Amino acid sequence: MSNFILETRGLTKHYGGVHALDDANFVLSPGEHVAVVGDNGAGKSTFVRQITGVEQRTSGQIFFDGHAVEHAGPLEAREAGIETVFQTLALADDLDVPSNLFLGRELFKFRLGPFSILDRKAMRERTMEALKTTAVKIPNVDNPIRNMSGGQRQCVAIARTAAFASKLVIMDEPTAALGVQETAQVENIIRGLKERGVPLILVSHNLRQVFDLVDRIVVFRRGRIVASLRKDETDGNDIVSYITGVKGSEEAAA
Ligand SMILES: Nc1ncnc2c1ncn2[C@@H]1O[C@H](COP(=O)(O)OP(=O)(O)OP(=O)(O)O)[C@@H](O)[C@H]1O
Ligand SMILES: [Mg+2]
Repeated sequence: MSNFILETRGLTKHYGGVHALDDANFVLSPGEHVAVVGDNGAGKSTFVRQITGVEQRTSGQIFFDGHAVEHAGPLEAREAGIETVFQTLALADDLDVPSNLFLGRELFKFRLGPFSILDRKAMRERTMEALKTTAVKIPNVDNPIRNMSGGQRQCVAIARTAAFASKLVIMDEPTAALGVQETAQVENIIRGLKERGVPLILVSHNLRQVFDLVDRIVVFRRGRIVASLRKDETDGNDIVSYITGVKGSEEAAA
């Protein structure tokens, strides 16, 4: 038995001839915050999609919370305790904010077989609480998501993650589309997860953010993990040289 909350062994994903992810061996300890960095197309989002069951891997194994996992889809991953903010947001355009937050885990006043009544009031209240923690100002949570700005949508997705965070949180470029203030808020949410002992995988191109927030940095290059370094044993220049391939082309990291 391993002591890791998440472990991948030989995780591989090919899209036809494109080797988007090759033999990724990755571990995450309980409570640990790890950044995943790398150039565009390095395989970071592909890695996230395999762990979260959005796609089915070509080969390799995933262990989560002590079990080998075969997440048939993102809902199963979420039920298992993995909350994810995807790079391309999985929000339902036609629904309002509370319905998006509770998508797939709606609260009911009453439920008997096919008959059910949604508890809209409770969902709305929990939504307002979750948004308060992100300090995001959304003019009207009853508007459909489609009428919101990119940054507001992103904040809804992050509020959803923070509200339901259980065993593992994954964020793929959570602040790429955000302004300065919203970025600071999201970083505070991440610090809050750390305090609560919730482990995190943070995909980010922002090295300042990465060095501010995480314990360890994992570098992807051309579908492979080329480095795994504790924050205190590396620096920005070192990480950039792994990202660009000046370093690490021959060394494999655990
Ligand atoms: N559905 C797909 N079909 C074919 N190729 C894909 C698909 N998704 C990703 N790829 C390819 O896999 C490689 C890795 O893509 P991925 O999206 O994982 O990169 P990334 O590291 O997340 O990049 P970015 O920083 O730009 O988000 C790229 O070469 C990409 O073109
Ligand atoms: Mg990506």
